[in-house]
Parts: sequence; C-alpha cells; structure tokens
Amino acid sequence: MRNFKLFSALLVAMLMVFLVGCSNDVSTNSGDGKTSGKKAKGGKINVGIVLPTKDEPRWVQDETRFHDALKDSEYTTEILFSQGSSAKEKENVETLLNKGIDVLIIAPHDGPAAGAAVEAAKKDGVTVIAYDRLITDTKGIDYYVTFDSVAVGEAQGQYLIDHAGEEKGIPLYLYAGAASDNNAFLFFEGAWNVLQPKIADGTFVIANSSTAEALKDKAELTRDELGKILGQVTTNWDANEAKNKAQTHLTAAKADFKGEVVVLAPNDGTSRAIADVFASDPDVSKYVITGQDAEKASIQYIIDGKQSMTVFKDVRTLVADAMGMAVDILDGKTPETTGSYDNGSIEVPAKQTDVIVIEQKNVKSELIDSGYYEESEFTGL
Ligand code: BGC
Repeated sequence: MRNFKLFSALLVAMLMVFLVGCSNDVSTNSGDGKTSGKKAKGGKINVGIVLPTKDEPRWVQDETRFHDALKDSEYTTEILFSQGSSAKEKENVETLLNKGIDVLIIAPHDGPAAGAAVEAAKKDGVTVIAYDRLITDTKGIDYYVTFDSVAVGEAQGQYLIDHAGEEKGIPLYLYAGAASDNNAFLFFEGAWNVLQPKIADGTFVIANSSTAEALKDKAELTRDELGKILGQVTTNWDANEAKNKAQTHLTAAKADFKGEVVVLAPNDGTSRAIADVFASDPDVSKYVITGQDAEKASIQYIIDGKQSMTVFKDVRTLVADAMGMAVDILDGKTPETTGSYDNGSIEVPAKQTDVIVIEQKNVKSELIDSGYYEESEFTGL
C-alpha cells in the first residue's frame, strides 16, 4: 500500500517553508456556513473539509490547526465532522457540493464506505484529496496527504523492543485500530515488521491473540491475515472498547502472562485506557506501552510515567500539505507529490510526512520548543 522510501530532512524543511507560504492564501469558516474572502462569491465555499469525528482529540487538533493555518486567507473553507457515521459523512459532502466547493479534503470515517461520497464529488468536477486516511477501492480520489503510517507502527514496535527487559518470554499484548481504517493495517504491518523476529525467537510471547500467535513465523502478513488479527485485537479506535478488551485479557491471563509486560497500543486514546487497566492490576509489576498522536492528555501521561511513548505526527505539516495542494488546484496548477499509494483500485499520487517518537526525555525539545504546545498546558514538566 505504499511506495515511499526515505525523504531527506532538507526536502521536508523546504516543503514546510513553501506550504506555510501557501497557507496565507486561504481562509476558513468552520462549519457555520458563513463565507468570506475575496475569491468567494454568493456564499460559495472553495474548499470543503470533512473530518471523521469530534469525539477524539486527534481530529479536534486537526480542526484547530486548519483554523490556525487559514486565518488570513483569500479562499473560503468550511469544516464538517461526520461523527463516526458514513451516512453523515455522505450528507456532509453533499452539503459542501451544494455550496459549490472546488476541492474536497476528506479523512474518511470508513475507508471503503467513503467511496460513494467521493465519487459524487468527482461527478461534480470536484478534486478530492484524502487526508490522513486513504479512501480505498474507488477511482474517486485524486490525491492523498498522509504521515508515514508504516513508520508509525515500526516506531511503536521498536520502542517495545528497546525498552523491554533482557530475558526471554516477555508477555506481549497486541491491540489495533479499526479495520474500517486503512491506517490500522499499516500501523500493525509496521509493528509486525519489527516485532515478528522477536516473537519468532521467543523474546516476546503473544498474550492475547491466538491468530497472531499462529502466524508468528511469517515475516510478511497478507492483508487477509492482518484483517484476521485485527478482528481479534481491534479497539475500533474506541477507548471504552480498548478498556473492556484489556480487562478481559488480564482477567483471562495466567500468572506467566503478568509481571513485566509490553503492550502495543495503536493510539493515545486507546493507550491511556489500556494503561489504566494494566496499572491497576496488582500482578502487573511493570508495563511498557506505546501510543500515537501526541495528544495533550497522553503527553501528561508520559510526563507522569503512565504511558511510555507516543508517535508525534505534526498536524501542522499535514494541514499545510493539504491546503497547499488545494491552493495549487484552485490556482490551476498541478500539486507536487512525492510518491503514490495503491488504494486497491488506482495508484493515488501522494505526499507523505515523517513522524517523531516522543518519550519523557524529549517532550520539551520536540513539543514545547517547537511551539506545538505550551509548557503551561502540562504539570511536572
Ligand atoms: C489516524 C490516527 C488516529 C486514529 C483514530 C487514524 O487513521 O491516523 O492519528 O489516532 O485514526 O482516530
């Protein structure tokens, strides 16, 4: 699903400068239907943005970063949330089409299910940019802006390896995202890339997935095999589901699956929920647990030693990439891309951004000094 290798830091830096420049040409009116900006006529919206849900801080974060990037811009933008419903998402796209959008930026709630909505947009002559999550099995998208999702999983897996004890037979608890999200496959694939040799050689013993255990000697899993493992250990990106699953797993676990353990948690919301369960089990003496998104609540958990790490995906870059593309399209230019993703139907030209591992020791240098968060938002830093 990906066709990327390493990009040089220089290229990334140049892109940032270029796109921050572009974002000055854009403006926004999130969700209230008002229009503004020189290029907007008669209530027209230039760029429609559809995000999956307001219930997860990750996507509220994206909304905020879009607002920040679009403050003094010329084009009008409207952001709508789909609240975890493909039906609502389709309705949102129709609302935006009725407002005359030329570009649609969309992070789908459900990758394959969003096909119909974007095909409707394409029929209307709209250019479609998939944002963070790929829309699969459709010819209805033109571009994809994303983080390197396989690298996210690899960073999570590597962290567990680097921070586990020296002995063999360390219990490994696996959790994954929603199977309706293509990213969940990429994250797990990345984690498996680095964890599998350590499972095969007995360093780690899988504690909670008989399917993963049965596949432990396979270095590369098919989409179908990944789907089967996800079926067993999915959190559906839902903190409550994650908590319930973790409770069930720890209740069922025998003594040799307790003690010092490592936990692959796919993102911050699920990580905090799972961490709370592991922390409250008296037979778990130590846990190392991953995360993703650098959500504020998880940064506090990391400072407090309750979550071990998170993978920071700088949403400012993703927003700049998406809006930079949108502006190019509105200006009649062809957006720059750096690779492509096979969405099961077509090769989608894509732009991809690197990720950074955050742990206690670099919270300050990566997140505070870069201006992503304020020091005053945390205690004990
Ligand atoms: C995103 C993650 C997010 C997850 C749950 C994924 O597609 O890439 O950043 O945590 O969805 O919303």
